[in-house]
Amino acid sequence: MKGIILAGGTGTRLKALTKVTNKHLLPIYDKPMIYFPINTLKSAAIDSILVVTDKRRTSDFLLLLGSGSDFDVRFTYALQESAKGIADALSKAKDFVYIDDMTVVLGDNIIFGNVKELREPLRKSCRIFLKKVEDPERFGIAYIENGRITKIVEKPKKITSNLAIIGLYQYKSNVFDIINKVQPSKRGEMEITDVNKYFLDNDDIEYRIIDNEWIDAGTIESLFTASEMEKTFVSKVKYS
Ligand code: G1P
Repeated sequence: MKGIILAGGTGTRLKALTKVTNKHLLPIYDKPMIYFPINTLKSAAIDSILVVTDKRRTSDFLLLLGSGSDFDVRFTYALQESAKGIADALSKAKDFVYIDDMTVVLGDNIIFGNVKELREPLRKSCRIFLKKVEDPERFGIAYIENGRITKIVEKPKKITSNLAIIGLYQYKSNVFDIINKVQPSKRGEMEITDVNKYFLDNDDIEYRIIDNEWIDAGTIESLFTASEMEKTFVSKVKYS
């Protein structure tokens, strides 16, 4: 199993904070944001990790992460030339992954503790991870009936499910063929939700609902909340 962290993008929702640096280098209480997806992958015993980033800040990632020896993993780096969406960023991992399975995590997704479900054998070509939220309009949302996914929608306007698809995905290597079939969305991006919809249409998707605390730290408000959650988490770990 290979690991991929998608850490590109322009971070426009964080305004001035991302003018001179990459969002994934910003602090979440006591750590740079990118440490969280690294820990998520490490907790699943994944030690070969590709970091896909934008070309503005590659040298900062190298300075911070290096070869990976400080983290007991091996890092490889790839560039996303322009912010064309999550599926486009993932396409940069094709040669790195080759014929392996992969776990993909978005660099701004903060997941606390081990995600034990990541170690379960992959039965379908795609596995998504779900978590109940109070603001479904911000996320990709899954609709479940009788234990099966019936629909997935990116940032729905009419909301009848509150199960967010978090920024953690597992795929078999055929995902790269699917990405080639996806067309840019209205906002001009190659959406990961369109890739996942393709697997749904082919009955080749499974899901897990996770217990872990999770937050997407991509907005000013959620960045602040993520720091508060990390502060609480660190103190619990220290004193328990
Ligand atoms: C992206 C995905 C969305 C997912 C979210 C998780 O949204 O498009 O499906 O629910 O990450 O963090 P974005 O943060 O790019 O708006």
